[in-house]
Amino acid sequence: MSEFHALVPAAGFGARMGNQLPKQYLPLAGKPMIAHALETLCACEEISTVFVVLSPDDTQFTSYDWSHLGDKLQPLFCGGNTRAESVANGLLVSELEPDDWVLVHDAARPCLTQANLHKLITELRDDAVGGILAVPLADTLKRADAHQRIECTEPREKLWQAQTPQMFRAGLLSQALTKCNAVTDDASAIEALGLQPKLVAGDTTNFKVTYPNDIRLAELILKDRK
Ligand code: C5P
Repeated sequence: MSEFHALVPAAGFGARMGNQLPKQYLPLAGKPMIAHALETLCACEEISTVFVVLSPDDTQFTSYDWSHLGDKLQPLFCGGNTRAESVANGLLVSELEPDDWVLVHDAARPCLTQANLHKLITELRDDAVGGILAVPLADTLKRADAHQRIECTEPREKLWQAQTPQMFRAGLLSQALTKCNAVTDDASAIEALGLQPKLVAGDTTNFKVTYPNDIRLAELILKDRK
């Protein structure tokens, strides 16, 4: 029977945060940001292993004590120059069975809930393609011209914001990323094969910490849950 594994790309620098410390290690609610996602993934009963893809130069990860997460956690020092490359390298090194499911989750999404993780697995475990957590777009979208003036308004009907985890069979995802690595998420590589990943409705609290203000927002969400 196919197993479920998580793979967390965490080899980025987080340039938009304007900080020396890579984004995934910034303090958030008393721990490095990445700890929140790793705790949620490791606590999920269906998930057997949680691979963390780190930069080969990473000296930070092993400076923390991860023993409370048990033996599911497996750091891999094989990150690449882009997120897609980090995921592809991680898949190669992890040597998963082609039919195993892999849930790729950004280190920078600390507010993933156990309920949405479980919903994703339940809705997709018998799916032929796989899919992603996502939310229907709430704001009106403007396309800018070169002078930061509105060129046009994009219709938001049927538009969703992609989140993670993104859940696909390890063999299919590896094949997709080998063919097409100029993508910002895993689903795009699967789409490039002509397949249609499913959109599983999550919620907006699972946002990606990107700008400095996002840290405080994530802290408030996590505090509110306690
Ligand atoms: O930069 P961005 O926020 O889009 O990154 C999304 C995720 O991909 C983060 O967890 C980041 O650490 C990871 N990433 C990576 N390797 C890169 C670039 C980003 O693992 N070269």
